[in-house]
Amino acid sequence: MIARLESLKKQFFQEIAQVREPGELSSLRDRYLGRKSGAITALIRELGTLPAAERREFGQGANELKQLIESRLDEAREQLERQTESARLAAERLDVTLPGIPARMGHRHPITLLLDRLQTIFVSMGYSLEDGPEIETNFFNFDALNIPEGHPARDQQDTFYISIELALRTQTSTVQIRTMQRRKPPLRIIAPGKVFRRDTPDPTHNPMFFQLEGLAVDRHLAMSHLKGTIQTFVNRMFGPKVVTRFRPSYFPFVEPGGEVDFSCISCDGQGCRVCKGSGWIELGGCGMVHPHVLEVVGIDPNQFSGFAFGLGVDRMAALMYGLDDIRLLYENDLRFLSQFPL
Ligand code: DAH
Repeated sequence: MIARLESLKKQFFQEIAQVREPGELSSLRDRYLGRKSGAITALIRELGTLPAAERREFGQGANELKQLIESRLDEAREQLERQTESARLAAERLDVTLPGIPARMGHRHPITLLLDRLQTIFVSMGYSLEDGPEIETNFFNFDALNIPEGHPARDQQDTFYISIELALRTQTSTVQIRTMQRRKPPLRIIAPGKVFRRDTPDPTHNPMFFQLEGLAVDRHLAMSHLKGTIQTFVNRMFGPKVVTRFRPSYFPFVEPGGEVDFSCISCDGQGCRVCKGSGWIELGGCGMVHPHVLEVVGIDPNQFSGFAFGLGVDRMAALMYGLDDIRLLYENDLRFLSQFPL
């Protein structure tokens, strides 16, 4: 009997040494300790048939073996679980010291960069920032600016109409009217923003582009103030050597009206490809606010006068960033945009 116990024990230890998975442990347990067919269970059942003298010794031996097997099975299960766990941890191992994949950062749009500079300069000269809607009534876009019905600027050909009364603004001069309706002079404002015209896109035209409007209204403002303001701006923007010239021109909302150019920054006014040989680059329109415009907003033209200007931002951007096609500004091509600072 004791020999059977010994050989079962030996057999069990051989078998448990082969076990690799938790499932095999269960069937091993069944084979030795199972209620129905377990080998140890069977031995213990035989106890009753033994003479009393042997029963005690054998019973003790069988119980000891049973306990031994149970504790070995438990140990083996724990060991297997530990192995599985450490294999899983090894598989999931992350090297947190590896350099990360850099997140792609956006860049500021060249127009935004430029507008920031323009604003900084004008704010330092005492101008404040104004804004107006991009969808405008005829009153603000035309009538109040002294552009009567029938004027070619109101033509369907040039303007994106939304209804008879509403259109995408064709100029930021609308903000002059909106500001003067709300604020009493003296005032000095700039209004940068988008404007829209039905132009066929080409290297120098886009149906949407940017202007920067300026307006000053006070007592005794004269053309000299306008010229001094523009000259100061040009020097801050492009450098102390740059000079300006004013040419007479016509805009319905200013009288007198003009256009202003500055000496080419690329050739110092000598004439080159950038200024198309003329030595001058167009900056925009300007003039003294028309008395009719002041009257429309209830400002007495006998007491107050004003000057205004409208600068072409896209042209300036093309010049500063050396673009030969302003449409680059609006194509959202990341290869282009990502060349600008964050
Ligand atoms: N609004 C004009 C345009 O879009 C530009 C302009 C000209 C603005 C003269 C002004 C000005 O303020 O005084 O062509």
